[in-house]
Amino acid sequence: MEHATTLDLEQFESSDQQDQLERARRQVTGRTTLLTQIFGQAQDVLTVLSLAAGLLAYAPWLIVLILLALLPAFVGEVHFNAQGYRLNYFRTPERRQLDYIRYLGSSVETAKEVKLYGLNTFLVERFRGFADRMYADNRRLATRRAAWGTLFAALASCAYYLAYALIVWRTVQGEFSIGDLTFLSGSFLRLRGLLEGLLLGFSQIAGQALYLEDLFSFFDVRPSIASPANPRSFPQPLKSGIMFENVGFRYPDSDRWAVRHLSLTLTVGEAVALVGENGAGKTTIVKLLARLYDPTEGRILLDGYDLREYDLADLRRHIGVIFQDFVRFHFTAGENIGAGCIEATDDRSRIQQAAERSLADRIIQRLPHGYDQPLGKRFHEGADLSGGEWQKIAIARAYMRDAEVLILDEPTAALDARSEYEVFQRFRDLSLGKTAILILHRFSTVRMADRILVLENGQVVEAGSHEQLVASGGRYAELFELQASGYR
Ligand SMILES: Nc1ncnc2c1ncn2[C@@H]1O[C@H](COP(=O)(O)OP(=O)(O)O)[C@@H](O)[C@H]1O
Ligand SMILES: [Mg+2]
Repeated sequence: MEHATTLDLEQFESSDQQDQLERARRQVTGRTTLLTQIFGQAQDVLTVLSLAAGLLAYAPWLIVLILLALLPAFVGEVHFNAQGYRLNYFRTPERRQLDYIRYLGSSVETAKEVKLYGLNTFLVERFRGFADRMYADNRRLATRRAAWGTLFAALASCAYYLAYALIVWRTVQGEFSIGDLTFLSGSFLRLRGLLEGLLLGFSQIAGQALYLEDLFSFFDVRPSIASPANPRSFPQPLKSGIMFENVGFRYPDSDRWAVRHLSLTLTVGEAVALVGENGAGKTTIVKLLARLYDPTEGRILLDGYDLREYDLADLRRHIGVIFQDFVRFHFTAGENIGAGCIEATDDRSRIQQAAERSLADRIIQRLPHGYDQPLGKRFHEGADLSGGEWQKIAIARAYMRDAEVLILDEPTAALDARSEYEVFQRFRDLSLGKTAILILHRFSTVRMADRILVLENGQVVEAGSHEQLVASGGRYAELFELQASGYR
């Protein structure tokens, strides 16, 4: 988890990286016995050496025979361990599919739709499809392993009986005494058992080590978005604001530009509304601003310096963002808000203040346990909220921090008309002297922004106040008219 949190958002979004993460995650557990095993092996090696010394004096060829007899089984084990590892490696995507289908089929978040659309059978069948394929692969490997294992074990047994026959033969011939016979057959038996265990242990350790490689190769993955060597700290207060200079961004593995030739200025003390149709690039702009991605071309300046020159953690600490797909933490109400400034999660009065600003306090007052009420239905005594109520909690989260830049991405999508109006009024008060960006769809609220930027295909096509834009009769006027006509 510690390493995963350092990685880029981009790395979480790549399915290959998710496979790698999954492998690493699986390998952390269940490999803890490795060390015990290694020490056990060392102990066995000592016993084997002392026994072998005794045997060496009488019949060195017996040792050679044991080794020869065990070798095929050992090689076989190593080989099949490697095959098992490869199977696991290439089956990671399927295993993640299985986990995902299991989640869909058995979670509180998905239960509504799964029931309503009757998806149970579909999910079960799909699960069965993946599981059967994996089972068939595993069975094929297990069968081959067992077949070869039997063969090698039979070979080894033949060699042992040969050795016993030889010992008995030489005793009959008078070369060994009865005492020698007892000693030889006894230590031979023990040595055989020990060596068998030892070789098996080595092959197991080698097999486990293969898996550990997954963990270490995951640790080798480094984020590409990081603080520079001599980072600037975030300017407090922000003076000239934020400037996008001919910014272009393409998501990895995508040949479409999400934003392109984007130039805009956000001055301090101004509340800017971004409007535009779905997919116009609004959220992408926010992600670039929080440096979740770096621009593919152009640059973003904060008080005249490139964002990349700032300390990453410091930058993010001073930007308060609530994304449209904000997280509903199944923690208490207080923790849900406190997450906005995790150092202050015990500061009840600060949490209350943030909740008042976002109107979440009224919701929390109604909860049986108030701020200590667990939210979400996942855990004991959890209470669920409506979409709009969750949204107010999320907005309070953004208010927790003393941010210089406040960004709300469609924060009001789930709010009723009155709440949206009130939330926006408070947002205006709160963002006085700060830089604020709002992404909104309701024009009744949009019109209250100081400046409106209209985005289309990742570019600003119009900018100005509501009155200016309506008067100019362009794209904004068209969208506004479309919405307004619905109310007449
Ligand atoms: N993580 C992503 N990976 C690849 N493409 C993305 C990703 N997120 C968004 N896009 C694409 O980028 C474009 C802009 O998306 P976005 O900024 O989210 O639009 P919106 O204006 O609705 O917020 C869309 O065409 C979308 O398909
Ligand atoms: Mg969006």
